Amino acid sequence: MSQDLNPVIWPMSARRVNGEITIGYISVSDLADEFETPAFILDELDFKARASLWAKALQEAFGTNAGTAYYAAKSFISTQVARWIEQAGLGLDVCTDGELAVAIAANFPAKKIELHGNNKSESEIAAAIDYGVGVIVIDSLQEIDRVARIAHEKSVTQGVLLRLNPGVDADTHEAISTGHEDVKFGFSIASGAAWDAILSVKKHDSLELRGLHAHIGSQIFTPDSFELSASRLISVLAKYRDEFGAELAELDLGGGYAIAYIEGDKPIPAQEILSVIATRVKSECEKVRLKIPRISIEPGRVIVGPSMVTIYRVGTTKEVTLEDGSTRWYVSVDGGMSDNIRPALYEAQYSISLANRSSSAPLRKSRVVGKHCETGDIIIRDVQLPSDITPGDLLAVPATGAYGRSMASNYNHMARPPVICVLNGRARSIIRRETHRDLLALEIEEEPRQIGKGEAK
Ligand code: LLP
Repeated sequence: MSQDLNPVIWPMSARRVNGEITIGYISVSDLADEFETPAFILDELDFKARASLWAKALQEAFGTNAGTAYYAAKSFISTQVARWIEQAGLGLDVCTDGELAVAIAANFPAKKIELHGNNKSESEIAAAIDYGVGVIVIDSLQEIDRVARIAHEKSVTQGVLLRLNPGVDADTHEAISTGHEDVKFGFSIASGAAWDAILSVKKHDSLELRGLHAHIGSQIFTPDSFELSASRLISVLAKYRDEFGAELAELDLGGGYAIAYIEGDKPIPAQEILSVIATRVKSECEKVRLKIPRISIEPGRVIVGPSMVTIYRVGTTKEVTLEDGSTRWYVSVDGGMSDNIRPALYEAQYSISLANRSSSAPLRKSRVVGKHCETGDIIIRDVQLPSDITPGDLLAVPATGAYGRSMASNYNHMARPPVICVLNGRARSIIRRETHRDLLALEIEEEPRQIGKGEAK
Protein backbone atom coordinates (compact mmCIF):
# COMPACT_ATOMS: atom_id res chain seq x y z
CA MET A 1 0.00 0.00 0.00
CA SER A 2 1.32 3.41 -0.83
CA GLN A 3 2.15 5.78 1.96
CA ASP A 4 -0.74 8.16 1.42
CA LEU A 5 -3.48 5.71 2.37
CA ASN A 6 -2.94 5.32 6.10
CA PRO A 7 -4.40 1.88 6.92
CA VAL A 8 -5.69 3.14 10.25
CA ILE A 9 -7.98 5.57 8.38
CA TRP A 10 -8.77 3.75 5.11
CA PRO A 11 -10.65 0.48 4.67
CA MET A 12 -8.64 -2.70 4.44
CA SER A 13 -8.80 -3.12 0.69
CA ALA A 14 -7.93 0.49 -0.23
CA ARG A 15 -4.83 0.63 -2.44
CA ARG A 16 -3.27 3.03 -4.88
CA VAL A 17 -2.66 1.18 -8.13
CA ASN A 18 -0.98 3.01 -11.00
CA GLY A 19 -1.79 6.27 -9.27
CA GLU A 20 -5.44 5.52 -8.78
CA ILE A 21 -7.25 4.49 -5.61
CA THR A 22 -8.95 1.13 -5.75
CA ILE A 23 -11.34 -0.28 -3.16
CA GLY A 24 -12.30 -3.93 -3.27
CA TYR A 25 -9.97 -4.12 -6.31
CA ILE A 26 -12.12 -1.67 -8.30
CA SER A 27 -10.80 1.71 -9.32
CA VAL A 28 -12.69 4.74 -8.15
CA SER A 29 -13.01 5.87 -11.79
CA ASP A 30 -14.79 2.66 -12.69
CA LEU A 31 -17.02 2.99 -9.63
CA ALA A 32 -17.80 6.61 -10.48
CA ASP A 33 -18.53 5.72 -14.11
CA GLU A 34 -20.87 2.95 -13.09
CA PHE A 35 -22.62 4.46 -10.08
CA GLU A 36 -21.95 8.20 -10.49
CA THR A 37 -20.92 10.49 -7.65
CA PRO A 38 -21.15 11.26 -4.83
CA ALA A 39 -21.26 7.68 -3.58
CA PHE A 40 -20.47 5.84 -0.39
CA ILE A 41 -18.23 2.88 -1.18
CA LEU A 42 -18.46 0.13 1.42
CA ASP A 43 -15.65 -2.40 1.73
CA GLU A 44 -17.59 -5.54 2.59
CA LEU A 45 -14.67 -7.53 3.97
CA ASP A 46 -13.59 -4.59 6.08
CA PHE A 47 -17.05 -4.23 7.60
CA LYS A 48 -17.34 -7.93 8.38
CA ALA A 49 -13.84 -8.09 9.82
CA ARG A 50 -14.51 -5.19 12.19
CA ALA A 51 -17.84 -6.63 13.28
CA SER A 52 -16.21 -9.99 14.07
CA LEU A 53 -13.25 -8.29 15.70
CA TRP A 54 -15.43 -6.45 18.23
CA ALA A 55 -17.53 -9.51 18.99
CA LYS A 56 -14.38 -11.56 19.52
CA ALA A 57 -12.65 -8.86 21.54
CA LEU A 58 -15.62 -8.76 23.93
CA GLN A 59 -15.39 -12.54 24.34
CA GLU A 60 -11.65 -12.40 24.93
CA ALA A 61 -11.80 -9.53 27.39
CA PHE A 62 -14.67 -10.86 29.50
CA GLY A 63 -14.57 -14.61 28.85
CA THR A 64 -17.59 -16.33 30.35
CA ASN A 65 -18.87 -12.94 31.50
CA ALA A 66 -19.11 -11.63 27.94
CA GLY A 67 -22.63 -10.56 27.06
CA THR A 68 -23.61 -9.26 23.63
CA ALA A 69 -21.89 -6.80 21.32
CA TYR A 70 -24.89 -4.86 19.99
CA TYR A 71 -24.15 -3.03 16.75
CA ALA A 72 -25.56 0.50 16.99
CA ALA A 73 -27.89 0.70 14.00
CA LYS A 74 -27.94 4.50 14.10
CA SER A 75 -24.38 4.60 12.77
CA PHE A 76 -25.57 2.97 9.54
CA ILE A 77 -28.12 0.27 8.91
CA SER A 78 -29.67 -1.57 5.98
CA THR A 79 -31.11 -5.05 5.77
CA GLN A 80 -27.87 -6.28 4.23
CA VAL A 81 -25.86 -4.80 7.06
CA ALA A 82 -28.23 -6.33 9.61
CA ARG A 83 -27.66 -9.76 8.05
CA TRP A 84 -23.88 -9.34 8.19
CA ILE A 85 -24.20 -8.28 11.82
CA GLU A 86 -26.20 -11.37 12.61
CA GLN A 87 -23.75 -13.63 10.79
CA ALA A 88 -20.87 -12.11 12.75
CA GLY A 89 -22.68 -13.04 15.97
CA LEU A 90 -23.57 -9.54 17.14
CA GLY A 91 -26.84 -8.18 18.46
CA LEU A 92 -28.53 -5.03 17.22
CA ASP A 93 -29.24 -1.79 19.05
CA VAL A 94 -32.20 0.04 17.50
CA CYS A 95 -33.63 3.28 18.80
CA THR A 96 -36.65 4.01 16.60
CA ASP A 97 -39.39 2.04 14.91
CA GLY A 98 -37.65 2.84 11.63
CA GLU A 99 -34.49 1.06 12.71
CA LEU A 100 -36.63 -1.73 14.15
CA ALA A 101 -38.42 -2.04 10.80
CA VAL A 102 -35.09 -2.67 9.09
CA ALA A 103 -34.21 -5.31 11.69
CA ILE A 104 -37.58 -6.98 11.15
CA ALA A 105 -37.23 -6.82 7.38
CA ALA A 106 -33.84 -8.53 7.75
CA ASN A 107 -35.42 -11.16 9.98
CA PHE A 108 -32.96 -10.24 12.70
CA PRO A 109 -33.35 -12.56 15.71
CA ALA A 110 -35.64 -10.68 18.10
CA LYS A 111 -33.89 -11.85 21.24
CA LYS A 112 -30.69 -10.19 20.07
CA ILE A 113 -32.32 -6.78 19.64
CA GLU A 114 -32.17 -4.03 22.19
CA LEU A 115 -34.57 -1.08 21.95
CA HIS A 116 -33.20 2.30 22.98
CA GLY A 117 -34.49 5.86 22.98
CA ASN A 118 -35.25 8.62 25.47
CA ASN A 119 -38.77 9.13 24.12
CA LYS A 120 -40.06 5.91 22.68
CA SER A 121 -43.62 6.17 21.47
CA GLU A 122 -46.29 3.74 22.60
CA SER A 123 -46.39 2.27 19.12
CA GLU A 124 -42.61 1.81 19.10
CA ILE A 125 -42.78 0.01 22.43
CA ALA A 126 -45.68 -2.12 21.22
CA ALA A 127 -43.91 -2.99 17.96
CA ALA A 128 -40.77 -4.00 19.85
CA ILE A 129 -42.71 -6.16 22.29
CA ASP A 130 -44.72 -7.73 19.46
CA TYR A 131 -41.52 -8.66 17.66
CA GLY A 132 -40.19 -10.04 20.94
CA VAL A 133 -37.08 -7.92 21.40
CA GLY A 134 -34.77 -9.25 24.07
CA VAL A 135 -34.45 -6.06 26.00
CA ILE A 136 -35.86 -2.56 26.22
CA VAL A 137 -33.53 0.01 27.72
CA ILE A 138 -35.73 2.31 29.79
CA ASP A 139 -34.90 5.97 30.03
CA SER A 140 -37.60 7.74 32.10
CA LEU A 141 -40.11 7.15 34.88
CA GLN A 142 -43.06 7.56 32.53
CA GLU A 143 -41.54 4.97 30.28
CA ILE A 144 -41.32 2.44 33.10
CA ASP A 145 -45.09 2.64 33.50
CA ARG A 146 -45.66 2.72 29.76
CA VAL A 147 -43.57 -0.37 28.98
CA ALA A 148 -45.04 -2.17 31.99
CA ARG A 149 -48.60 -1.42 30.88
CA ILE A 150 -48.07 -2.41 27.26
CA ALA A 151 -46.24 -5.61 28.25
CA HIS A 152 -49.02 -6.42 30.71
CA GLU A 153 -51.68 -5.86 28.03
CA LYS A 154 -49.83 -8.28 25.80
CA SER A 155 -49.28 -10.78 28.64
CA VAL A 156 -45.53 -10.52 28.21
CA THR A 157 -42.81 -10.27 30.81
CA GLN A 158 -40.43 -7.85 29.13
CA GLY A 159 -36.71 -7.88 29.86
CA VAL A 160 -35.50 -4.37 30.60
CA LEU A 161 -32.34 -2.51 31.45
CA LEU A 162 -32.33 0.89 33.08
CA ARG A 163 -30.25 3.54 31.38
CA LEU A 164 -28.29 5.32 34.08
CA ASN A 165 -26.38 8.53 33.90
CA PRO A 166 -23.06 7.90 35.61
CA GLY A 167 -22.05 11.57 35.72
CA VAL A 168 -18.97 11.06 33.56
CA ASP A 169 -17.88 13.90 31.33
CA ALA A 170 -16.20 12.05 28.47
CA ASP A 171 -13.61 13.90 26.45
CA THR A 172 -15.39 14.44 23.14
CA HIS A 173 -17.46 17.08 21.32
CA GLU A 174 -20.18 18.54 23.57
CA ALA A 175 -22.99 17.49 21.24
CA ILE A 176 -22.02 13.81 21.46
CA SER A 177 -21.10 13.60 25.15
CA THR A 178 -24.01 11.92 26.91
CA GLY A 179 -22.89 10.82 30.36
CA HIS A 180 -22.51 14.08 32.29
CA GLU A 181 -25.33 15.44 34.45
CA ASP A 182 -26.93 18.01 32.12
CA VAL A 183 -28.26 15.66 29.44
CA LYS A 184 -31.65 14.25 28.57
CA PHE A 185 -30.49 10.63 28.82
CA GLY A 186 -30.85 8.20 31.67
CA PHE A 187 -31.40 8.30 35.41
CA SER A 188 -28.73 10.12 37.33
CA ILE A 189 -26.87 8.02 39.86
CA ALA A 190 -25.65 11.04 41.82
CA SER A 191 -29.10 12.56 42.32
CA GLY A 192 -30.74 9.33 43.43
CA ALA A 193 -32.96 9.17 40.35
CA ALA A 194 -31.37 5.85 39.40
CA TRP A 195 -32.42 4.26 42.65
CA ASP A 196 -35.96 5.62 42.35
CA ALA A 197 -36.16 4.08 38.89
CA ILE A 198 -35.03 0.70 40.20
CA LEU A 199 -37.71 0.78 42.89
CA SER A 200 -40.29 1.76 40.32
CA VAL A 201 -39.39 -1.06 37.90
CA LYS A 202 -39.60 -3.60 40.68
CA LYS A 203 -43.23 -2.74 41.29
CA HIS A 204 -44.22 -4.16 37.92
CA ASP A 205 -44.71 -7.88 37.38
CA SER A 206 -44.60 -7.41 33.63
CA LEU A 207 -41.02 -6.11 33.76
CA GLU A 208 -37.97 -8.20 34.42
CA LEU A 209 -35.09 -5.97 35.44
CA ARG A 210 -32.04 -7.63 33.93
CA GLY A 211 -29.48 -4.98 34.71
CA LEU A 212 -28.10 -1.52 34.06
CA HIS A 213 -26.89 0.44 31.07
CA ALA A 214 -24.88 3.58 30.38
CA HIS A 215 -23.66 5.21 27.20
CA ILE A 216 -21.32 8.10 27.92
CA GLY A 217 -20.78 9.53 24.46
CA SER A 218 -19.17 8.95 21.13
CA GLN A 219 -15.70 9.18 19.54
CA ILE A 220 -13.95 8.62 22.88
CA PHE A 221 -10.27 7.72 22.60
CA THR A 222 -9.27 6.66 26.11
CA PRO A 223 -10.62 3.94 28.42
CA ASP A 224 -10.74 6.07 31.58
CA SER A 225 -14.28 7.43 31.09
CA PHE A 226 -15.58 3.93 30.32
CA GLU A 227 -13.83 2.63 33.45
CA LEU A 228 -15.28 5.36 35.63
CA SER A 229 -18.73 4.76 34.21
CA ALA A 230 -18.42 1.00 34.84
CA SER A 231 -17.26 1.54 38.40
CA ARG A 232 -20.23 3.81 39.17
CA LEU A 233 -22.66 1.33 37.67
CA ILE A 234 -21.09 -1.47 39.69
CA SER A 235 -21.63 0.52 42.88
CA VAL A 236 -25.34 0.63 42.02
CA LEU A 237 -25.32 -3.14 41.36
CA ALA A 238 -23.74 -3.62 44.80
CA LYS A 239 -26.36 -1.44 46.44
CA TYR A 240 -29.05 -3.47 44.69
CA ARG A 241 -27.55 -6.71 46.00
CA ASP A 242 -27.34 -5.28 49.53
CA GLU A 243 -30.92 -4.09 49.40
CA PHE A 244 -32.60 -7.02 47.68
CA GLY A 245 -30.25 -9.92 48.37
CA ALA A 246 -30.13 -10.80 44.66
CA GLU A 247 -27.76 -9.74 41.92
CA LEU A 248 -28.60 -8.14 38.59
CA ALA A 249 -27.00 -10.17 35.83
CA GLU A 250 -26.28 -7.62 33.11
CA LEU A 251 -24.24 -4.50 32.62
CA ASP A 252 -24.26 -2.76 29.26
CA LEU A 253 -21.48 -0.22 28.90
CA GLY A 254 -22.72 1.33 25.66
CA GLY A 255 -20.69 2.32 22.62
CA GLY A 256 -18.59 5.33 21.81
CA TYR A 257 -15.18 3.94 20.88
CA ALA A 258 -13.20 6.28 18.65
CA ILE A 259 -11.85 5.79 15.15
CA ALA A 260 -9.15 7.62 13.21
CA TYR A 261 -10.32 10.33 10.82
CA ILE A 262 -7.05 12.19 10.33
CA GLU A 263 -3.31 11.56 10.68
CA GLY A 264 -2.38 11.49 14.33
CA ASP A 265 -5.70 10.05 15.54
CA LYS A 266 -4.70 6.97 17.52
CA PRO A 267 -7.66 4.84 18.50
CA ILE A 268 -6.88 2.05 20.94
CA PRO A 269 -7.46 -1.37 19.34
CA ALA A 270 -10.57 -3.25 20.42
CA GLN A 271 -8.78 -5.99 22.38
CA GLU A 272 -6.70 -3.47 24.25
CA ILE A 273 -9.41 -1.02 25.30
CA LEU A 274 -11.83 -3.79 26.24
CA SER A 275 -9.22 -5.62 28.30
CA VAL A 276 -8.43 -2.41 30.23
CA ILE A 277 -12.15 -1.99 30.91
CA ALA A 278 -12.44 -5.68 31.85
CA THR A 279 -9.63 -5.37 34.38
CA ARG A 280 -11.37 -2.43 35.99
CA VAL A 281 -14.74 -4.20 36.00
CA LYS A 282 -13.15 -7.20 37.72
CA SER A 283 -11.39 -5.13 40.35
CA GLU A 284 -14.48 -3.03 41.09
CA CYS A 285 -16.58 -6.18 41.44
CA GLU A 286 -13.99 -7.72 43.76
CA LYS A 287 -14.00 -4.59 45.92
CA VAL A 288 -17.70 -4.94 46.60
CA ARG A 289 -17.67 -8.76 46.43
CA LEU A 290 -20.03 -8.88 43.49
CA LYS A 291 -20.19 -11.65 40.92
CA ILE A 292 -19.02 -10.17 37.62
CA PRO A 293 -22.15 -9.43 35.57
CA ARG A 294 -22.54 -10.22 31.89
CA ILE A 295 -20.94 -7.29 30.08
CA SER A 296 -22.42 -5.98 26.83
CA ILE A 297 -21.28 -3.16 24.58
CA GLU A 298 -22.83 -1.18 21.71
CA PRO A 299 -20.19 -0.28 19.13
CA GLY A 300 -21.37 1.55 16.02
CA ARG A 301 -18.75 3.87 14.62
CA VAL A 302 -15.81 1.48 15.13
CA ILE A 303 -17.48 -1.12 12.96
CA VAL A 304 -18.90 0.80 10.03
CA GLY A 305 -16.95 4.07 10.20
CA PRO A 306 -13.69 3.01 8.59
CA SER A 307 -15.37 0.63 6.16
CA MET A 308 -16.75 3.37 3.90
CA VAL A 309 -15.17 5.98 1.65
CA THR A 310 -17.12 8.75 -0.04
CA ILE A 311 -16.13 9.57 -3.58
CA TYR A 312 -16.91 12.97 -5.02
CA ARG A 313 -16.23 14.58 -8.37
CA VAL A 314 -14.69 18.02 -8.52
CA GLY A 315 -16.88 20.52 -10.35
CA THR A 316 -15.17 23.87 -9.96
CA THR A 317 -12.09 25.47 -8.42
CA LYS A 318 -11.81 29.09 -7.41
CA GLU A 319 -9.24 31.42 -5.94
CA VAL A 320 -10.69 33.90 -3.48
CA THR A 321 -8.80 36.94 -2.20
CA LEU A 322 -9.20 37.49 1.52
CA GLU A 323 -9.25 40.80 3.40
CA ASP A 324 -5.58 40.57 4.32
CA GLY A 325 -4.63 40.12 0.68
CA SER A 326 -3.94 36.41 0.99
CA THR A 327 -5.84 33.93 -1.11
CA ARG A 328 -7.85 30.84 -0.49
CA TRP A 329 -8.23 27.99 -2.97
CA TYR A 330 -11.71 26.52 -3.03
CA VAL A 331 -12.33 23.10 -4.53
CA SER A 332 -16.05 22.36 -4.95
CA VAL A 333 -17.38 18.82 -5.17
CA ASP A 334 -20.75 17.40 -6.10
CA GLY A 335 -21.96 16.57 -2.56
CA GLY A 336 -21.43 18.27 0.76
CA MET A 337 -23.37 18.84 3.95
CA SER A 338 -26.27 16.71 2.70
CA ASP A 339 -24.09 13.59 2.65
CA ASN A 340 -21.76 14.60 5.48
CA ILE A 341 -23.17 16.96 8.09
CA ARG A 342 -20.49 16.11 10.66
CA PRO A 343 -18.00 18.90 9.87
CA ALA A 344 -20.77 21.53 10.15
CA LEU A 345 -22.34 19.93 13.22
CA TYR A 346 -19.33 18.84 15.27
CA GLU A 347 -16.39 20.54 13.55
CA ALA A 348 -15.43 17.01 12.59
CA GLN A 349 -12.24 16.65 10.62
CA TYR A 350 -11.66 14.28 7.72
CA SER A 351 -8.85 13.24 5.42
CA ILE A 352 -9.11 13.50 1.65
CA SER A 353 -7.10 12.27 -1.33
CA LEU A 354 -7.00 12.88 -5.02
CA ALA A 355 -8.36 9.52 -6.07
CA ASN A 356 -8.41 9.03 -9.85
CA ARG A 357 -4.72 9.74 -10.40
CA SER A 358 -1.60 10.68 -8.53
CA SER A 359 -0.02 14.07 -9.04
CA SER A 360 3.44 15.44 -8.58
CA ALA A 361 2.21 19.04 -8.80
CA PRO A 362 3.19 21.23 -5.84
CA LEU A 363 0.76 21.10 -2.96
CA ARG A 364 -1.60 23.96 -2.38
CA LYS A 365 -3.55 24.79 0.75
CA SER A 366 -7.14 24.11 -0.26
CA ARG A 367 -10.62 24.18 1.19
CA VAL A 368 -12.90 21.43 -0.05
CA VAL A 369 -16.52 22.49 -0.11
CA GLY A 370 -19.82 21.05 -1.23
CA LYS A 371 -22.45 22.40 -3.59
CA HIS A 372 -24.98 23.62 -1.03
CA CYS A 373 -26.05 27.21 -0.66
CA GLU A 374 -24.22 27.77 2.60
CA THR A 375 -20.81 29.05 3.54
CA GLY A 376 -20.64 26.39 6.25
CA ASP A 377 -20.91 23.65 3.64
CA ILE A 378 -17.30 22.69 4.17
CA ILE A 379 -16.04 19.13 3.90
CA ILE A 380 -12.41 19.85 4.75
CA ARG A 381 -11.50 23.28 6.07
CA ASP A 382 -7.77 23.25 5.34
CA VAL A 383 -5.87 20.59 3.48
CA GLN A 384 -2.80 20.41 1.29
CA LEU A 385 -3.86 19.06 -2.10
CA PRO A 386 -2.08 18.89 -5.44
CA SER A 387 -2.42 22.30 -7.07
CA ASP A 388 -3.42 20.80 -10.43
CA ILE A 389 -6.74 19.37 -9.18
CA THR A 390 -9.23 20.22 -11.81
CA PRO A 391 -12.90 19.71 -12.70
CA GLY A 392 -13.54 16.03 -13.41
CA ASP A 393 -11.03 14.76 -10.86
CA LEU A 394 -12.27 12.42 -8.17
CA LEU A 395 -11.64 13.03 -4.48
CA ALA A 396 -12.04 10.32 -1.85
CA VAL A 397 -12.90 10.96 1.80
CA PRO A 398 -12.29 7.93 4.05
CA ALA A 399 -13.98 6.96 7.32
CA THR A 400 -17.42 8.22 6.34
CA GLY A 401 -19.32 5.02 7.13
CA ALA A 402 -20.68 6.05 10.51
CA TYR A 403 -23.21 8.87 10.77
CA GLY A 404 -22.60 9.74 7.11
CA ARG A 405 -25.34 8.13 5.03
CA SER A 406 -27.38 7.68 8.22
CA MET A 407 -27.45 11.44 8.83
CA ALA A 408 -27.73 12.41 5.17
CA SER A 409 -30.46 14.85 4.22
CA ASN A 410 -32.20 16.13 1.13
CA TYR A 411 -31.17 19.72 1.74
CA ASN A 412 -31.45 21.73 -1.46
CA HIS A 413 -33.41 18.76 -2.76
CA MET A 414 -30.26 16.78 -3.24
CA ALA A 415 -30.87 13.10 -3.82
CA ARG A 416 -29.08 11.08 -1.18
CA PRO A 417 -26.10 9.07 -2.44
CA PRO A 418 -26.09 5.30 -2.81
CA VAL A 419 -24.11 2.86 -0.72
CA ILE A 420 -22.09 0.65 -3.03
CA CYS A 421 -20.74 -2.55 -1.63
CA VAL A 422 -17.42 -3.71 -3.12
CA LEU A 423 -15.79 -7.10 -2.83
CA ASN A 424 -13.06 -8.72 -4.90
CA GLY A 425 -13.63 -6.75 -8.06
CA ARG A 426 -17.42 -6.87 -7.91
CA ALA A 427 -19.74 -4.08 -6.87
CA ARG A 428 -23.43 -3.64 -6.14
CA SER A 429 -25.67 -1.02 -4.57
CA ILE A 430 -27.10 -1.99 -1.22
CA ILE A 431 -28.86 1.36 -1.07
CA ARG A 432 -29.53 2.90 -4.45
CA ARG A 433 -29.16 6.55 -5.27
CA GLU A 434 -32.30 8.54 -4.62
CA THR A 435 -33.95 10.11 -7.61
CA HIS A 436 -35.94 13.29 -8.10
CA ARG A 437 -38.87 11.00 -8.53
CA ASP A 438 -38.32 9.67 -5.01
CA LEU A 439 -38.35 13.21 -3.70
CA LEU A 440 -41.41 14.23 -5.67
CA ALA A 441 -43.17 11.03 -4.66
CA LEU A 442 -43.75 12.51 -1.21
CA GLU A 443 -45.83 15.33 -2.61
CA ILE A 444 -49.54 14.76 -2.92
CA GLU A 445 -52.49 16.83 -3.96
CA GLU A 446 -55.24 16.51 -1.41
CA GLU A 447 -58.61 18.16 -1.19
CA PRO A 448 -58.72 20.18 2.04
CA ARG A 449 -60.94 18.41 4.58
CA GLN A 450 -62.53 19.43 7.82
CA ILE A 451 -60.30 18.58 10.78
CA GLY A 452 -61.77 18.68 14.26
CA LYS A 453 -65.05 20.35 15.14
CA GLY A 454 -64.19 23.97 14.53
CA GLU A 455 -66.50 25.73 12.12
CA ALA A 456 -65.13 27.46 9.10
CA LYS A 457 -65.09 31.24 9.45
N1 LLP B 1 -25.39 3.16 22.25
C1 LLP B 1 -26.14 4.24 22.43
C2 LLP B 1 -27.19 4.21 23.47
C3 LLP B 1 -25.94 5.38 21.66
O1 LLP B 1 -26.70 6.45 21.85
C4 LLP B 1 -24.94 5.37 20.66
C5 LLP B 1 -24.70 6.54 19.84
C6 LLP B 1 -24.19 4.21 20.48
C7 LLP B 1 -24.42 3.12 21.30
C8 LLP B 1 -23.13 4.07 19.43
O2 LLP B 1 -22.08 4.95 19.58
P1 LLP B 1 -20.79 4.83 18.66
O3 LLP B 1 -20.10 3.54 19.02
O4 LLP B 1 -21.23 4.80 17.25
O5 LLP B 1 -19.99 6.03 18.97
N2 LLP B 1 -23.97 11.59 15.20
C9 LLP B 1 -22.82 11.62 16.07
C10 LLP B 1 -22.76 10.43 16.98
C11 LLP B 1 -23.98 10.30 17.83
C12 LLP B 1 -23.98 9.04 18.61
C13 LLP B 1 -25.31 8.78 19.19
N3 LLP B 1 -25.37 7.60 19.97
C14 LLP B 1 -21.56 11.71 15.22
O6 LLP B 1 -21.68 11.77 14.01
O7 LLP B 1 -20.46 11.75 15.75
